[in-house]
This record gives sequence, structure tokens and C-alpha cells, in this order.
Amino acid sequence: MSQTVRGVVARAKGAPVEVVPIVIPDPGPGEVVVAIAACGVCHTDLHYREGGINDEFPFLLGHEAAGVVESVGAGVDSVNVGDFVVLNWRAVCGQCRACKRGQPQYCFSTFNATQKMTLEDGTELSPALGIGAFADKTLVHAGQCTKVDPTADPAVVGLLGCGVMAGLGAAVNTGGITRGQSVAVIGCGGVGDAAIMGARLAGAGTIIAVDRDDKKLAWATDLGATHVINSTSVDPVERIQEITGGFGADVVIDAVGRPETYKQAFYARDLAGTVVLVGVPTPDMTLELPLIDFFSHGGSLKSSWYGDCLPERDFPTYVDLYQQGRLPLEKFVTERIGIDDVEKAFDTMHRGEVLRSVVVL
Ligand SMILES: NC(=O)c1ccc[n+]([C@@H]2O[C@H](COP(=O)([O-])OP(=O)(O)OC[C@H]3O[C@@H](n4cnc5c(N)ncnc54)[C@H](O)[C@@H]3O)[C@@H](O)[C@H]2O)c1
Ligand SMILES: [Zn+2]
Ligand SMILES: [Zn+2]
Repeated sequence: MSQTVRGVVARAKGAPVEVVPIVIPDPGPGEVVVAIAACGVCHTDLHYREGGINDEFPFLLGHEAAGVVESVGAGVDSVNVGDFVVLNWRAVCGQCRACKRGQPQYCFSTFNATQKMTLEDGTELSPALGIGAFADKTLVHAGQCTKVDPTADPAVVGLLGCGVMAGLGAAVNTGGITRGQSVAVIGCGGVGDAAIMGARLAGAGTIIAVDRDDKKLAWATDLGATHVINSTSVDPVERIQEITGGFGADVVIDAVGRPETYKQAFYARDLAGTVVLVGVPTPDMTLELPLIDFFSHGGSLKSSWYGDCLPERDFPTYVDLYQQGRLPLEKFVTERIGIDDVEKAFDTMHRGEVLRSVVVL
């Protein structure tokens, strides 16, 4: 048995997305069907549509989602029918070399559903990040479902499923920010602003936001930035050094992921400081720097995959902080849209008008 529902599909490189009928199999062993309540529009969905991730068209887009478990397959005991869950793309295996050495946040063999969702003609769909949640329902591995407080707003907490968690975790997990530290964040979109929110939560003293767009800098201030720099008119490295007593910031987060922003991050940190790269570069980008500068600056240069999060540990924690009014996750939802409006939301995102558009189903 299977069921047919609506889903947002990218059929070919660069072609506008379409809402079409998709076929969801009944869950097999270890699998779960989730009725989606809300799903945020992330830059990565657009990357898929543009062929920037891989060529496995057609894609079923959407991956920052929350919903309710509709049915479970054999052997599933971590979630039950009716549970409210946030979907994740890090269902850790427990068996790979990273998991075995106690670093499951790097798991090299994460789980997804084994069966394929399809178009009505049987063409197999590639779900974005193994999720595919711009759809009434989706099929995932049970480990991709993290139970959270069912009274939370799905449009808000679903965002923890990708970008917001990536930014929060880049600050708190990868950057290891602690009380009193100075932090700079380059690029204040959904990911960068979540890093700013994370820096504030961790007790950073000075939080410097860098962007090319004043509107983004205003949002960054609202989320906790103590200083802002518009890098179209001011050299961010010099200004960050000035703000931090001539030294540079303890932790600098690059939430853009371009050679020029990475260089700014590299030189804007204090001696022995940390750079965290969370923005995703494209394969054509290269970086050239004097090797002596790596040595003489010391410290650490890190990349942050999904904010080094463990969904089972982190999602319920941040949902609870949000529910207590201690983490303003709701500020990331700029607009709520319908399933037919994803293509329009890509344009809005491109124009920099939103932190997140969220599809509500
Ligand atoms: N590492 C991960 O696991 C992970 C997860 C999700 C997203 N990401 C990546 O994070 C990055 C940011 O995502 P987002 O959703 O916040 O995107 P976004 O488009 O909402 O935000 C990007 C921001 O960077 C600013 N910007 C662009 N070029 C700049 C420059 N040269 N200097 C300063 N600011 C600049 C833009 O004005 C914008 O505010 C993307 O590359 C995305 O793919 C990474
Ligand atoms: Zn593993
Ligand atoms: Zn994403």
C-alpha cells in the first residue's frame, strides 16, 4: 500500500519547482511516515534546484521541518504514532569509526529511509538532505525524527532541523563560545543570526555582526549583536580589531563561505583565536594565504557541519529554551507561505528580504 500526496519537486537544473502528486510508500522496517506541519525554505533547497549539490534530479525539496508521526514500520520503538517531531539529517549509526571513537556528531554513515518516494509514473525522487518535506507527508528513517514539546509552534521549531541549528551549533558546539568572550559573525542571514543568538546564549560579551546589508544588520542587533559593521563601506578586519582593543575577536564565524569572507575571519581573530567556517563554499573557490600567517596566528581553524549537533541532545534543549522565552527562535520566521509559493520564496530569499519563509501545511 502507498498513498499519493502533494510535494514540491525540482525536475531539472534551473527549472522552476512544481507542486506535483508524489507517492509515499508505507513505512518499512526502521522507517516512519511523518505528516508535515511546516517546513522552512533554506538556501540549500535552491542549491539543489540549481544543480549545485548533485545531478540526481528529480529532487523532492524541503528539509527544515516539523510534523506528526503518522505511521511507523517494523522495529521502530524510538517514536510512536502521534508524536510531534522535528526532522533531522543526522540519524547517527553508532557503528562507523567516528561514532565508535565517541564523536557521533561526525557520523560518516547516517541513516535515511531505504525505500524511495516516487512520482506517479514511478520515477524515484531524491529527497533534499534525505528528508523532502515540502510535502503533505514524507518517508524518513526513525532516527531522523526527534521528539520535542508538542505545544511548540511547528513553523518555529522546524527551523532547528537545519539552518538555525547550524548557526547555533557553530557558536556553541564548534566555536565553544563561553562567557565574556568576543565574537564576530560574518554574514547575518538565518545561519549567521542563529550564531549571534547562540553567542548571546553562551554569554559572549562583545558580539560583532558583519554584513553588506543594513536590514540584515538591524535583525542581527535584534538577536543580540552589540556592534555592527557594513563591510561595503568599512574594512571589517580593522573595525573588529578596533572594537576588541586592537586584538581581534576570540571566535570569528564565517557564515558566508567565500574566500574573501574567510580571509576576513582569519585575520579578524585574536592570537590563538578560533575561526569557524559554517557557510558552504562552491567547488570552484580556492584560498591562498601566507603559510607563516597560519603558524604565527596559532589557534584553531574549524569547519562546522550542521553545527556539530546531536539532534537527540540539542533539539529538545533548544525547544525548551524557546518555550521558556529564553531563545527567540520565532524571530527567524519572517513569513508563512503556502506550498505553492516555494518558487516565489526563492526570489524573496535572493533579494535578502527574509531570514526564513516557512511553508505551512
Ligand atoms: N554548515 C552547515 O551545516 C550549514 C547548514 C545550513 C546552511 N549552511 C550555509 O550557510 C550559509 C548561510 O546560509 P543562510 O541561510 O544564512 O543564507 P542567507 O542567504 O540567508 O544569508 C547570507 C548572508 O550573508 C550576507 N553576505 C553575502 N556576501 C557577503 C559578504 N561578502 N560579506 C558579508 N556578508 C555577506 C548576505 O547579505 C546575507 O545576509 C550558506 O552558505 C548555507 O549553504 C551551512
Ligand atoms: Zn556513525
Ligand atoms: Zn538547510
